[in-house]
Amino acid sequence: MLVSASEMLKKAKAGHYAVGQFNINNLEWTKAILLTAQELNSPVILGVSEGAGKYMTGFETVAAMVKAMDESLGITVPVALHLDHGTYDGCYKCIKAGFTSIMFDGSHYAIDENIEKTKELVAVAHAMGMSIEAEVGSIGGEEDGVVGMGECADPAECKAIADLGVDMLAAGIGNIHGKYPANWAGLSFETLDAIQQKTGEMPLVLHGGTGIPEDMIKKAISLGVAKINVNTECQLSFAAATRTYVEAGKDLEGKGFDPRKLLAPGFEAIKATVKEKMELFGSVGKAE
Ligand code: 13P
Repeated sequence: MLVSASEMLKKAKAGHYAVGQFNINNLEWTKAILLTAQELNSPVILGVSEGAGKYMTGFETVAAMVKAMDESLGITVPVALHLDHGTYDGCYKCIKAGFTSIMFDGSHYAIDENIEKTKELVAVAHAMGMSIEAEVGSIGGEEDGVVGMGECADPAECKAIADLGVDMLAAGIGNIHGKYPANWAGLSFETLDAIQQKTGEMPLVLHGGTGIPEDMIKKAISLGVAKINVNTECQLSFAAATRTYVEAGKDLEGKGFDPRKLLAPGFEAIKATVKEKMELFGSVGKAE
């Protein structure tokens, strides 16, 4: 069931758990995530970066595939189709394409411009029944060409953006896209606590979910995080399982080269990673 992310995140914040956003790249990713959410009776958010959208030949293709697959698989749990780190133009493209949720990442603009553009997009998204995420302070590292320095957000600026009526707020708290370096200082819970105190009921978003230790994930949820984004970890599990298959020479046995066979171990690996994350985030059984 394709829905906006608004209700599922309000429930998550009130119930002290988080909904996972898992980024998709193709049919295998989408099917693995949808089936796992259904099996675990968990709400889920499918994230689409602008780079992944382009790879899949455009947001229209993505929206058509996700809608059709959601129906043909008989998915009844709430699923939001969400633009990840959208530009101003990208947001309008996804609104037109039929996404159910967008993220406008205006974190690289001066705060006044971020506020102005976010405010406009909140009005447009809500008029279409879509949810919208905004960002303050940047997420470190690189994701599909979006590079951030990783500075912690200013809680006063977070409040200014939250007051625009966004449905979820991503705030930099020392989190990084991709693998965390060995000398990573960890999440700044002091910043997160200050942000939650200023923004109250606002569901907060933790980007860079790959590789954050379990205790930090649990503490972040206890301090108001209601959505956690995971991308790299599914890519790593898919690649490792595919490597094992090929290195064992399975693609050379019988019809092991058939893409449906070749991609099957990676598909199962994505399912296992998504399951592990949903259990950790506490969203299992929370679809109703
Ligand atoms: P990771 O790739 O580090 O899991 O981050 C995902 C993310 O934050 C998507 O916006």
